[in-house]
Amino acid sequence: MNQRVGIEALAVAVPERFLSLEDLAIARGVEPAKFTAGLGGREMAVADPGEDSVALAATAVAKLLKSYAIDPNRVGMLVVGTETGVDHSKAVASYVQGLLGLPRAMRTYDTQHACYGGTAALMAASDWIAAGHAHGKAAIVVCADIARYGLRTAGEPTQGAGAVALLVSDKPDLFELDRGICGMASSHVFDFWRPLGSREAVVDGHYSINCYLEALGDAYAGYRKLALEREIVRHSEQLPSEQLSRIAYHVPFCKMAKKAHLHLRKCELKARLGRELTAEEQTAEDRAAAIAFETQVAPTLALAARIGNTYTGSLYLGLASLLHTQGASLAGKRIGMFSYGSGNSSEFFSGVVGAHASAAIAKAELDQLLASRRRVTMEEYEQVMEMNAATPPQAQPRPGTFRFVGVTDHRRRYVAG
Ligand code: COA
Repeated sequence: MNQRVGIEALAVAVPERFLSLEDLAIARGVEPAKFTAGLGGREMAVADPGEDSVALAATAVAKLLKSYAIDPNRVGMLVVGTETGVDHSKAVASYVQGLLGLPRAMRTYDTQHACYGGTAALMAASDWIAAGHAHGKAAIVVCADIARYGLRTAGEPTQGAGAVALLVSDKPDLFELDRGICGMASSHVFDFWRPLGSREAVVDGHYSINCYLEALGDAYAGYRKLALEREIVRHSEQLPSEQLSRIAYHVPFCKMAKKAHLHLRKCELKARLGRELTAEEQTAEDRAAAIAFETQVAPTLALAARIGNTYTGSLYLGLASLLHTQGASLAGKRIGMFSYGSGNSSEFFSGVVGAHASAAIAKAELDQLLASRRRVTMEEYEQVMEMNAATPPQAQPRPGTFRFVGVTDHRRRYVAG
């Protein structure tokens, strides 16, 4: 069966507060250019304990259903990719199903492998539809996370939070997946992890960058082989990666996407030449790679630069940025996607932008979403970071959003705005 499968609709939820990275740099006695030019960010979302992964996921799904006028009875599967769930047993997906009153005849569960969890969910949902097991129904995939590191740690400027909800169906108005054309790479490494009970992740940041790049090289090699065989890219003057109109990478911080793209090109050039580049060839490549990055990758970073790391959601915020800013000109064009989860598991895949993606993504109201946030001072940011996770401030949720309000009799309670 040659079934079309992909993303029909997309919505985003973010915390109400954000911090300017310049303010953070000044407070920490760091040159602001390190966080802006060096790490590539401008702002990062700051979640208070009421804005946990469940609240963000439920808010994103509420927005998805309302903005795109989706009948909940169309949905037969709800999978949440997250690495910052709220319970060792009960799934975030279960809370979301209950909070939104979604149908009972539904498969609900969470997927976890650090930032790869959202892609694992997307692949499970699209395989379910492609296999013909969905019987005309659609799936909701949610990527929801709070990226949190300690105050005054190296990871502090690379925090963020948010949720991306995707409607996955056989009407991929936004993005049709190239089914079965993907490359995977996984290995057991300790680059980033979060032991049970700890609120902050343990991260060996520089090692993690190396693990990411190694995984990218191997996953892309697998993708490229299949993409050449299936002739969605060809052997030509242009590198196969240059035949992808854009490439969205997982972005723990924006600069990572640049490192990734340079590395991917280097792997391709080495594979083509069968040797390392000479100094002269490297100089020419540095120039070509800088141009390629600006064209192929920079447009994917608009939201990440304003929201920061969203772990599982990061890659899909990249896709949203692209469709939001260039959706009309990219209709029918192929986009490469690289998902990386520390620990690690990774996948390179691709898809094609829908003919009306630009009109469809407008329903996500991404500019309004960013404009509705509130910039906080360093003092307020530190107060929020020090709040007890189990006793959130009792604030009234905004219309259309959800908040965690506390625990009664071991049960987490949420309210809708
Ligand atoms: N102006 C411009 N750039 C500057 C600068 C300045 N004044 N000072 C430093 N920089 C640049 C550095 O050259 C470096 O860029 P490069 O990597 O291209 O060389 C960048 O800023 C970061 O500096 P660095 O010294 O490496 O920062 P750091 O040691 O404080 O840590 C991370 C950076 C990313 C390793 C750290 O923030 C981290 O661990 N974050 C978490 C990452 C994560 O989540 N990983 C897991 C999932 S993949």
